[in-house]
Amino acid sequence: MLSDTTIFRLYGDKVISSLKKLDKPVIASVINPGEKHKTLSEIPRIIKPYFEAGFNRNACFLALGGGVITDLGGFIASILLRGIATIYLPTTLLGQIDAAIGGKTGVNFQLSKNFMIKNMLGTIIQPAMVISDIDTLFTLPQKEILNGLGEMMKYYIGWEQPSVAQLLKIKQAIKTPPRFSERTPRVLEETMKIISICQHIKLDIVQADPAETKGIRGKLNLGHTIGHAIEGAANGRISHGEGVSIGLAAAARLSVLKGLLKEDKYKMIIAQLKSLCLPTAARNIDRKKVLSALKLDKKGGTFVLIQDVGNIKTNQRVDLQLINQVLSEIIV
Ligand SMILES: NC(=O)c1ccc[n+]([C@@H]2O[C@H](COP(=O)([O-])OP(=O)(O)OC[C@H]3O[C@@H](n4cnc5c(N)ncnc54)[C@H](O)[C@@H]3O)[C@@H](O)[C@H]2O)c1
Repeated sequence: MLSDTTIFRLYGDKVISSLKKLDKPVIASVINPGEKHKTLSEIPRIIKPYFEAGFNRNACFLALGGGVITDLGGFIASILLRGIATIYLPTTLLGQIDAAIGGKTGVNFQLSKNFMIKNMLGTIIQPAMVISDIDTLFTLPQKEILNGLGEMMKYYIGWEQPSVAQLLKIKQAIKTPPRFSERTPRVLEETMKIISICQHIKLDIVQADPAETKGIRGKLNLGHTIGHAIEGAANGRISHGEGVSIGLAAAARLSVLKGLLKEDKYKMIIAQLKSLCLPTAARNIDRKKVLSALKLDKKGGTFVLIQDVGNIKTNQRVDLQLINQVLSEIIV
């Protein structure tokens, strides 16, 4: 099993004592938290204890944590002994509504000291099981709730659900520090319902286009072209969800400049992102790094653009001049 030190401290013992009931050996590896540990260089240290203890292809790899842990754990499991089964226990909002679903695994590549390119090595392999326990979300710090809301806004802009009012409810429900008295059955049920809306949007898309070959899955990249580039150029200072939020603002602006999205809808989207306290611009980012990351983008430099909330278009080419214009507006 793989976790990070924060999550292991909170939930490690509980999970291990449950696993021990199976009367099978449990070997746990733990990494330090954070995106910068989602790299190839962490892998030897993680897998060494498994080989020391001895295991075979019947072993199951359990990833307990956020998207960093499920991406990295899923990647390791997909190459260990040429692939063993995985179970994901996502513990972040972002993990439960996105990262743990769909089978994309991967690690980042550190191109130079302060510049990583996101998810450049990876595999697509479905986990055997994903268990989302929403109780774990109540220990999340506020910034991780915002991180999840960034990806949830992607679903709202692309699929018109969950509504912004529901997202505000999530923000309100999962408070920090946790107020257990406020976790009434109604709050839990509402939280579960909103999370499940997002999970089903992603599941439906992944089922329709599991290997991203039919042009359907590409819709999930809404906000991710510029979002990933900014996240990578910020080298850990901007979370994935914040990067996506800035990427959504950039995609909306590009859509206006390409004549696809009406100005008033653009203003509405920006106001909605801000109402959730999500960023729509980035500070102190090297624009050259963002442009380099865009050149290396897996999507071949194409964008998902917005015609309206709930109506998006994949594979859109955008002139470099427009990209530069938008970058100069969103990098302040
Ligand atoms: N594979 C995919 O389809 C996919 C989709 C979206 C994002 N991602 C990836 O997911 C990653 C981001 O995931 P993330 O936002 O979950 O980040 P993360 O895994 O780094 O977790 C964020 C932080 O929250 C802490 N944490 C996790 N669960 C906690 C809990 N229950 N209580 C308290 N603290 C907790 C972690 O220790 C960490 O510090 C990125 O690498 C991104 O590329 C993958």
